[in-house]
Amino acid sequence: MMGVERSGPLRITVVSIFPALIRAIVSEGVLRVAAEKGALNVDAVDLRDFTHDRHRTVDDSPFGGGAGMVLKPEPLFEAVESIKGTMGDSAGPVILLTPQGRLFCHQIAQELSKEQNLVLICGHYEGVDERVREHLVTDEISIGEYVLTGGELAAMVVVDSVVRLLPGALGSEQAASEDSYAKGFLEYPQYTRPRVYRGWEVPEVLLSGNHKEIARWRWEQAIERTLLRRPDLLAKASLSKEERELADRIKARKGFN
Ligand code: ADE
Repeated sequence: MMGVERSGPLRITVVSIFPALIRAIVSEGVLRVAAEKGALNVDAVDLRDFTHDRHRTVDDSPFGGGAGMVLKPEPLFEAVESIKGTMGDSAGPVILLTPQGRLFCHQIAQELSKEQNLVLICGHYEGVDERVREHLVTDEISIGEYVLTGGELAAMVVVDSVVRLLPGALGSEQAASEDSYAKGFLEYPQYTRPRVYRGWEVPEVLLSGNHKEIARWRWEQAIERTLLRRPDLLAKASLSKEERELADRIKARKGFN
């Protein structure tokens, strides 16, 4: 499906033991608006609906002993198979949120935004039965080098960043193509009224009305900020020859090398 024009909303199904948490997040703000505009459809599926015992058990102790609990395979397989059954041929990636996954970034968000369907599985406890990794999921994603109590917040980070990239999900004032990570460097500083706050003034150039000067100042600020905070980004950015030369001049002026 990747790269093919999607018809209709991006459909994301999140499998979780806390579906209410997912629904709460997608029912506010930009995610809600994106759904109202028909760009997005998020469904939260309760993993416990795919259990068959009185206690709706989703976890069990690990074979071989050790602390913690492991998510059982049966409810996860049955949940995903049921979801895929409703998707027909357009069933897309099945992604497990786990600290062991590939590290999430803008480029992965872009990849995912082109799919027709996504299934996100929120891991819990000490992890999931390895057979889920081997035979059910097609991808594993981590949102950072730290461990959360569950995959729900990670899934919501993925959903939130993907939704920003859907055509028609954001207003033009928030165009995602202007994102810093899309361009490969960090954002320039922004100011709004009042012009002077507690004696701190807005840079004069921004009040000048000279659009060319303003654009140049912003670009220089963005480069400088990136050099200071994320030099690794700048090294990877695709800059024109002129931009690269300007970056080198700023570097020299500011004593970077
Ligand atoms: N679950 C627990 N920690 C996580 C992380 N860092 N990324 C994705 N899922 C997780």
